Amino acid sequence: MNEIKPQLHYSLLSHNTFGIQAHADCFIQYTSVEQLLQAIACYREHYAGRPLLHIGGGSNLLFMQDFPGVILHSAIEGVELLAQEEERVLVRVGAGMNWDSWVEYSLSQGWYGLENLSLIPGEVGASAVQNIGAYGAEAAQFIRKVECVDLSDGSLRTFDVEECDYGYRHSVFKTLHRGRYAVTHVQFALSLRFSPNLSYHGLTSALQESGKTEANLTAQDIRETVIAVRRQKLPDPQVQGNAGSFFMNPVVPVSLYNRLKESHATIPCYRVDDDNVKIPAAWLIEQCGWKGRSLGKAAVHARQPLVLVNAGGASGKDIMELCRCVQADVRERFGIALQPEVMILSNFCI
Ligand code: EPU
Repeated sequence: MNEIKPQLHYSLLSHNTFGIQAHADCFIQYTSVEQLLQAIACYREHYAGRPLLHIGGGSNLLFMQDFPGVILHSAIEGVELLAQEEERVLVRVGAGMNWDSWVEYSLSQGWYGLENLSLIPGEVGASAVQNIGAYGAEAAQFIRKVECVDLSDGSLRTFDVEECDYGYRHSVFKTLHRGRYAVTHVQFALSLRFSPNLSYHGLTSALQESGKTEANLTAQDIRETVIAVRRQKLPDPQVQGNAGSFFMNPVVPVSLYNRLKESHATIPCYRVDDDNVKIPAAWLIEQCGWKGRSLGKAAVHARQPLVLVNAGGASGKDIMELCRCVQADVRERFGIALQPEVMILSNFCI
């Protein structure tokens, strides 16, 4: 087994899509469960009591300051077919694999389901933590098991999907077990028969515009359309630092929505259940006049106001200042508290 190579005073610039300059005291990338156990031992021996953070592709993080501890990153790759039935496959994927490479590979094998989740930034491990979602699909629909290492004692634990408590951008790994487990592998059940998921209006209209009808639709058509829509709406982090949606879409009681509708007739919503609806944060932010506006080195994206961007050389504090202004205006005008979807890393106690 190769030894891990801890890197000291490590620049996190290429590990956060916001493009924020911050350093970690120590950064350890590992390629196997054995190496992860070595990394945990290294942390215990040299950094006990200091912060420990496991990151994925860094597409959902905002560093407010340098990180005074150890950052772990998985480079566990590999796709393993565990079982094949008449209509579906069960596949085990390394947590360090790039998410979109996995989606592309799955489709090339004739394994269907993930096409609506094309081009989401990040890695496979984070998909199981965040329950990434887009265009009417969520990772949790396809996840069967999540294999983890307990960072507190190095023991292995596999979670069945039912134990993960998945919801909208939610899982047990973000709440009850926050920071405790490192995902090493995710097991997905995918279909051998393509059945298009056309539940998201924005996707069906884009397919229609490109002349695709349900009768001749392929999974590749969906993938290409999702990629085109994402490229058109969302800024490329290589060009302009960002972490995708900065805020979650707020889920509010129907009663509040009905009250708001009296004064804002066009307010859109999506039904969550009998009692709650989801209101697009993008709409709320646009109504407050923030679409395309900047504050110092941070800006609200002009095509998708849910996305905050680094307009050049912004610090974590610059982005947070903009975040707070947007939140304050939305709260004042609509009485709704926008919650960041992005993980904000600040106030480390050592
Ligand atoms: N809207 C506006 N103004 C705009 C843009 C959008 O008012 O300039 C309103 C419209 O009412 C529109 C609605 O927002 O119908 C929804 O917009 P969109 O379809 O672009 O999706 P979203 O709700 O803003 C969510 C996810 C995205 C995901 C898309 C597509 C969250 C927090 N965001 O955005 O996820 O790609 O749906 O499914 O749920 C991410 O998490 O990083 C991400 C990009």
